[in-house]
Order: sequence, then C-alpha cells, then structure tokens
Amino acid sequence: MADITESPEWSALAAHQAEIAGRHLRELFADDPGRAGRMTVTAGDLHLDYSKHRVTGETIGLLTALAERAGLRARIEAMFTGERINVSENRAALHTALRIPPGETLTVDGQDVAGDVHAVLDKMADFSRRVRSGEWTGFTGKRITTVVNIGIGGSDLGPAMAYEALGDYADAGISCRFVSNIDPADILGKLDGLDPEQTLFVVSSKTFGTLETLTNAKVARRWLVERLGDDAAVSRHFVAVSTNAERVAEFGIDPANMFVFWDWVGGRYSLDAAIGLSLMIAIGGEAFREMLAGFREIDEHFRTAPFEANMPVLMGLLGVWYTDFFGAQTRAVLPYAQRLSRFPAYLQQLTMESNGKSVRADGAPVVAQTGEIFWGEPGTNGQHAFYQLLHQGTRLVPADFIGFAEPFEEPAVDGPAGMHDLLMANMFAQTSALAFGRTAEEIAAEGTPAELVPHKVMPGNRPTSTILAPKLTPKTLGSLVALYEHVVFVEGTIWGIDSFDQWGVELGKVMAMDLVPALTSAEPPAGGEPDASTAALVRRYRELR
Ligand code: F6P
Repeated sequence: MADITESPEWSALAAHQAEIAGRHLRELFADDPGRAGRMTVTAGDLHLDYSKHRVTGETIGLLTALAERAGLRARIEAMFTGERINVSENRAALHTALRIPPGETLTVDGQDVAGDVHAVLDKMADFSRRVRSGEWTGFTGKRITTVVNIGIGGSDLGPAMAYEALGDYADAGISCRFVSNIDPADILGKLDGLDPEQTLFVVSSKTFGTLETLTNAKVARRWLVERLGDDAAVSRHFVAVSTNAERVAEFGIDPANMFVFWDWVGGRYSLDAAIGLSLMIAIGGEAFREMLAGFREIDEHFRTAPFEANMPVLMGLLGVWYTDFFGAQTRAVLPYAQRLSRFPAYLQQLTMESNGKSVRADGAPVVAQTGEIFWGEPGTNGQHAFYQLLHQGTRLVPADFIGFAEPFEEPAVDGPAGMHDLLMANMFAQTSALAFGRTAEEIAAEGTPAELVPHKVMPGNRPTSTILAPKLTPKTLGSLVALYEHVVFVEGTIWGIDSFDQWGVELGKVMAMDLVPALTSAEPPAGGEPDASTAALVRRYRELR
C-alpha cells in the first residue's frame, strides 16, 4: 500500500496550506464574494454551507484530487457491494444494506442480504405493533408502558441518541430508558419507579458476551422474577437483539423473541439494524422506515455525487485538511437542537472507535495524524460554557453547527421573537463571529478604553460548517447519521486505515477481569501481579472498602 503522504497530491496540499494559512476568512470573502453562494451542497433534506472554511476553490480541487489518489471512488463501491473491507476481521462493512428499500436486491456471497434485512425489519415492525397496541402484554396481562434497553457502546448510544432526538414522535404512550454502565447506579436509577408488570427489557448486544450488558441483564431478570414471583415471566418481559443465538438461548431468552443482525454490521453502525428495536417500539415501524429513507437518501448521494459536490466527501476531506495540514486535534459538533443532546456522544463512538488507529489496514504504521477528537454540546448552552476558547483561545477548533428551520413545537412568549428564532439567531451569529471576529480598530472605534482593546479582540478565522435542515424528523435524523458515517469512511480511506475494527478496546477488558479476584479477595490477580502503581491502588481500594 502506497503511503498517501508521499503522493504528489499530499505535497501539493502542504504547499497550498502554507499560502492559505496566512489568509483570513475576511480576505477570502472580500476577494470572492460569490463563495457564500457557491460553497454549499444540498443532499436530500440537508443543506451544508462550507464557505466559512479556510479553503478556496483551489483547495477543494486539491483535496478531491487526494481523494482520487486514495482510490475513494473504488472504496465506496467496495463498501456498498459488500467487499470485505474490514480486513482485520475479514468482514464486509455493509451497514448501507440496512436501508435498502423494499423491492431492491443485494446478493453478497450468494446470500440475499436485502431479503434478510427486510425479514428482520418486518419482524421488528410486527413486534413493535403488538407492543404498541397492547396486543403483546406482560406476564400478568397488562400492557407494556416502559421499554428498558440494556446495551452498551453501539448497542446503546445509537438508540439512546435517536430516542432522545425523536422523543416528540413517541406516540404510543411507551417510554424508553437506557441502561449501559456497569456502575450499579445506572440500573438502579433506571429501575426506580418502574412497574415490573408493564416493563419490557430489550437486551441488546451484538456478541451477547459483553460484561456490562450481561451483568445488567441478570440484575434486571432477578428484579423482575422477584417481583412477579415466577421464572416463566421472563419470556414475556425479555427480548434480545444480537448476532449470537446460542448465547441468547443460554441466557434464557426465547429464541423466538430474538431479533438478529449480522457480523457485517459494526456495533457503532447498528442503530438502523435490529439494535433500533427500542426506538421502533417508541416511534412505530412507519417512522422507523422514514428514518431509513433518510439514511438511504444520503447513501445514494454519497455513492453518486461528484466529489466536489458530495457532502460527506467534502466534510471528510475538510477533516483531513485541518487534522493533517493545520494540526487541529478536535472537531466540535454543536447542534442547535436540545433534542440532539446525545448526538456528540454518539458521534464520539462512531468517529473515534472507527478512526482512532495508528496502523494502516496493511499493518504498517500511519505517518499522518488520524482520528479527530469529536466533542460537543447543544447550543446555546455551550456558548455559556466553552465557546470562549473557541473564539479567543490559542487552539484551532473546527466546528460543525447543526440547526433546523422549524421546531417541533414552541410556546408563546412575550417579546419580539419566538424561542426558535432566538435559538437560530444565536447559531448564525456564532458562525459569523467565529469566522470574521472583530479587529482592534473596530473595537477601539466603539470607544473601548485602550487597555481593554486587546482583551476584546476577536481573532476570527475559525472555520465552521453549517448544516441546516427543515425540521428534526426521523428522516432528517437518518440523513445526519448517514452523513457522519460516510465522513468517517472518507477520512479512513484517505488515512488508509480499517475504520471498522476496534482492537484497542480489548486489552482493558481482559485486564479488568484479571484484576477482579484482587479486588474481591486477597487473591492475586489472575494475570499475575499488576504494575506497582495499580497494585498499590488496589490495596488502597481494599482498605477503603
Ligand atoms: O468494547 C467496544 C464494543 O465492542 C463496541 O464496538 C460495541 O458497540 C460495544 O462494545 C458493545 O458490544 P456488544 O454489542 O457486542 O455488546
């Protein structure tokens, strides 16, 4: 595998960066007033304005040439057609098959993948309908009013984020809670106040071997059986989502109440697989399919649009631009939508578990920086917390602003503007302030005392993307998730890494289990004495406990 950093395209970008680095966004806009109109892309319901980036048309040309050099076009096809692009696990990464519309076919290695996907979706929709209508009851004949999803990582973050995002569409009087952490406070807090007769547990785990999930599921089972007084209650109150039927049966969940997915769906790409079951129960099968249609719209755009007009390609290339040519370490994601409060956390797994790699797919060390650190909070809250650093700090923090034209609903308020307009005025103002700032002359001209002027200077030149959509709906949410899935893919392709494995999370899991005997008794850890610092901490823990 050739090293992308040795390509002429990479060198051209490095040389170009040296020119752009000295230019301010004020200047770029003054020199090219048409850029605001030109540097936009619309894909389905999503509209991206990338004019406030430290790029010119030439930059975009050089970046798309880099994408060509990295073979992005062929890689996209390889992903969509089910090639085993997850090389370290010898698997396809075929999450795009999860949103193939009914009637379309996709056969991979002789397997009717589209048929399998729709069979599971139909089974989920049927089950959801029965729970929502009250046809499916608990053990004592009462209807289900609360669904508790037990899962972690990709088996939690996707449905938890989407349930929060689409809470306004939960129309069957069924609410969801999400338990993930092995900290007992999580499950105890989530079980608190629940009526066992009306609670359904969805145990979600791709492997069905994850410590946190199995432990929480055992606690939940015991809680239920103790209260309903009969082991037989489990089959009415527990269903499973997994790829591992054997382990599901071992746990005691009726395989008839299991919803499957496949090893070609990565955990962090599984919201639109059966892992979305809790969400589907809350919002219904139809709304879930609208979400899939939103995913699909972006899939098609990604697969067919020319790179210079391709939203995920441009956003991925801009990520590479700042990471590798400006030395940026992080990307802030700032949704101006309270209901997207879990979106940054969801993106953290999607992006950082995917692209936090220091070897390439062929095992050679990477030479460039990889893996942006994603973080964020909804605006306007973030404005009153960490935006100070974004505006006047010494670091470059590119940011994605996400907003919607319409709220789901809004109350009447006395004043010149409604709450949603106030929210969005803030979003637009922030991107403008970040880009253009305020010069010392402008501040002095306002009569500011000289000694205060340097404190009030807003340097500007801080790059942002703005993503605008009509309304936060199941469809737009699907599109947003697909957009970032493909951004990750574009970056991973440029860096030459396998974005679909996650070996780095394994060692800590093994070491934790090795340490358990030392925490619970005076026995030495199974894997031998740990390092001196850890051994001392364990001793101290035992003294305190
Ligand atoms: O530990 C990381 C991880 O494997 C994630 O990739 C995954 O989403 C999560 O754990 C949960 O795994 P599972 O769905 O198999 O329980």
